[in-house]
Order: sequence, then C-alpha cells, then structure tokens
Amino acid sequence: MQIIKLNATDSTNNYLKQLILEHTLDDFSVVVANYQTNGRGQRGSSWMSDKGKNLTFSILKRNISIEANQQFLLNILVSLSIVKTLEGLNIPKLAIKWPNDILSDNHKISGILIENLIKNKQIEYTIIGIGLNVNQGIFEGLPNKVSSLKNITPLAIDKDELLTKIIDKLKMYFKLYSENGSEFLNSEYESYLFRKDKPSTFSIHDQSLFTGIIRGVSASGKLFVQMEDSTKEFDLKELKLLY
Ligand code: BTN
Repeated sequence: MQIIKLNATDSTNNYLKQLILEHTLDDFSVVVANYQTNGRGQRGSSWMSDKGKNLTFSILKRNISIEANQQFLLNILVSLSIVKTLEGLNIPKLAIKWPNDILSDNHKISGILIENLIKNKQIEYTIIGIGLNVNQGIFEGLPNKVSSLKNITPLAIDKDELLTKIIDKLKMYFKLYSENGSEFLNSEYESYLFRKDKPSTFSIHDQSLFTGIIRGVSASGKLFVQMEDSTKEFDLKELKLLY
C-alpha cells in the first residue's frame, strides 16, 4: 500500500485524480495532506480544516465489482469503516446521517466525498475522500453542529495510527462484501442511521419544510421517508434533514 504524505494541496481527491492519470497506482493507495487549500465537500460545499490538526485524505479503490446503479454501496462500506473504527476508540453515540456524515452525539465529526469513474455502467475506480476532525477544538462559522475527537474523548489520538486503522477496516469491509454480498451491510448501515424511526424535519430543494419519519435507504441510496399518507423515496439532491 502506498501512502503519499503532503504538506499542502488543494484537495487530496483532486491530487489523487491527477496522479492516477500519470502513474500506475496500487489498489488502496492513499494521499494524506496536512492542509487543503480547497477542500471539497458534498453538493459543491467546501471542507474546512485547520492546518495540521485533522485527517484529510483520499483512498484509491479499483477492481470494484459494483455496478454504477449500486454505487451507494460504497457510501455504506466507507461509512461503516469509519464508524467501526471510532467505536473501537470508544467514541460515544455514533450515527450515520444519510448519506454519509458521521456524527457523535448529534455533532458531525467526519464527512465523505466519493468520486467514481464510471465506464460501461461499471465503476472503473473510485476515489474515497475522508475528512475526520481529530484535534481541532473550535469550529467557527459553520452552519451545522460540528465537533472533533479531541472534544469528545480524553484519549490522545495519533493521526497516523487512526489513518491506518480506517484503511484496514475499509479493506475488511470490501472483503466482507465480496464474500457475503450487500444484504447484511445495508442492515448494519441502517442500524446506525441518524433519526431512523423518529419524526424529523426536512427541507425539499432548500425551500419548503415538512415532517416525516426516516424508515431506511433503498439499494440506490434513496432515503425512505414516511409521510402522512405514504412512504416516499428521496434523492440526495432534493432532500436535507434539518437537525
Ligand atoms: C462532506 O461532508 O461534505 C464531505 C467532506 C469530504 C472532505 C474530504 S477531506 C479529504 C478529501 N479531499 C477533499 O477535497 N474532500 C475530501
């Protein structure tokens, strides 16, 4: 496994995307940066992280036998790898906020940005970008509740060790998937799903609000929300859970 350590780059996802065009890289190659000048989040947002304090890294995964229309499975594998690693450090009240924010006690501590190269309906390779707040104490000007491991656990966390643990878990989950398929992974993911079976408020297209109850996630990654008269499926682009 290759780990490329950078002091700074715009985004580890961008760096890895460029690198793979120029070099033959091993499966599970990793790029980790002390600082990103243009860290990217989901839905075109940015990922802010103080210099040197947190983990910001990207992993290359190739040879994935997942069809493009099942690509949500990658979100499941990655989310579970992070949650299980953090559980091993006794981080309390872990949850996955659909599609793949990792929360502890209602505060976001990690975000995931997965970018796939799709050819002939197959995922040729994927770049898994992970931001995990480790040693940053203060988060200013962010819209949601955000925290870090330092604010949650008295344990001193070694970032390099944590990175290795996450990669090992990810390898384990890919192996489990290839041996056993996806069914148990969906139910494990749903067992961590934030606000499952609880009335919650959502916004549609950042406009109108409604109340519904999260019941689960479809194979294509849509969220099942029970509303007054029926259960509807929502896509990532249309729905936001307010919390
Ligand atoms: C989100 O929650 O919106 C996803 C955040 C993903 C951030 C990580 S940090 C490493 C990698 N490089 C990026 O530019 N983004 C991801």
